[in-house]
Amino acid sequence: MELLRLCHITRTYQSSGLMRRRSAVEALRDVSFHVNAGEIVGLIGASGSGKSTLGRIILRLEKADRGELWLNGCEVFQSERRAASYAYRSLVQMIFQDPFASLNPAHTVAYHLERPLLRHGLVTRGELQKRVHELLHMVGLTPVERMASAYPYALSGGQRQRVAIARALAVNPKLIVADEPTSMLDVSIRMDILNLLARLRREQGLALLLITHDLASARYLTDRLIVLNKGVIVESGPTDEVIAHPRDPYTALLLDAIRNPRLERRPS
Ligand SMILES: Nc1ncnc2c1ncn2[C@@H]1O[C@H](COP(=O)(O)OP(=O)(O)OP(=O)(O)O)[C@@H](O)[C@H]1O
Ligand SMILES: [Mg+2]
Repeated sequence: MELLRLCHITRTYQSSGLMRRRSAVEALRDVSFHVNAGEIVGLIGASGSGKSTLGRIILRLEKADRGELWLNGCEVFQSERRAASYAYRSLVQMIFQDPFASLNPAHTVAYHLERPLLRHGLVTRGELQKRVHELLHMVGLTPVERMASAYPYALSGGQRQRVAIARALAVNPKLIVADEPTSMLDVSIRMDILNLLARLRREQGLALLLITHDLASARYLTDRLIVLNKGVIVESGPTDEVIAHPRDPYTALLLDAIRNPRLERRPS
């Protein structure tokens, strides 16, 4: 069943350059695709291809110039002209790249989870602690009592990312947009986070839009891949097919570049 659909999304940034010369960057042009319930879709593309812009538009942190956004069969931009409503936020959540910047150092882990639960009116004060513990358990942060009272500085990057995932899950979303969720983590814990996301899909039917540079992660986790080049979708299809037989020359180049370990070495 279709959960999210984007139709003809276009976004241009105006920047006033030197000597008042204005230049425009077309970050997205006529982008259309969909995500089904419980599906994991990968969004890949070189740096600057518009991936994060697309993520922010889906989260409604930023507006598109043109286009439609459909969620559960309702067009969102027309029906809600202002910023994302609570109803929208309870269906679509985001996980960011930097687990260090996304948590407030002044507050405990429990506080980060209590806030969305209370704001969205999902629990009473009496039920709060039980639900926080459930969420921590769900993302594998145990023992839950100790984790709940910990401050972010005492946690590893992987544990922080788990807190960010628990916070996103607090409102029972149907879709999570994850913008490079593992790229700042140690290679050894990347797999744990990917497995956690895979389990959440399996157990809760959560859909995921995974923005990534990492072909191994994309291959491991995604059902379908969408390839962006300079704001335009150049290819999409089942992950295995796209990786094995890219039809677009840009996709082939991109796959080659992100597959080629030589490019990851520092120049000598
Ligand atoms: N707020 C902004 N103002 C002006 N230009 C912007 C802004 N945000 C993004 N851009 C431009 O839009 C284009 C797309 O940027 P975006 O961050 O979406 O790319 P990306 O695919 O996420 O890149 P990366 O892989 O490096 O994260 C880039 O050319 C970028 O410079
Ligand atoms: Mg980005």
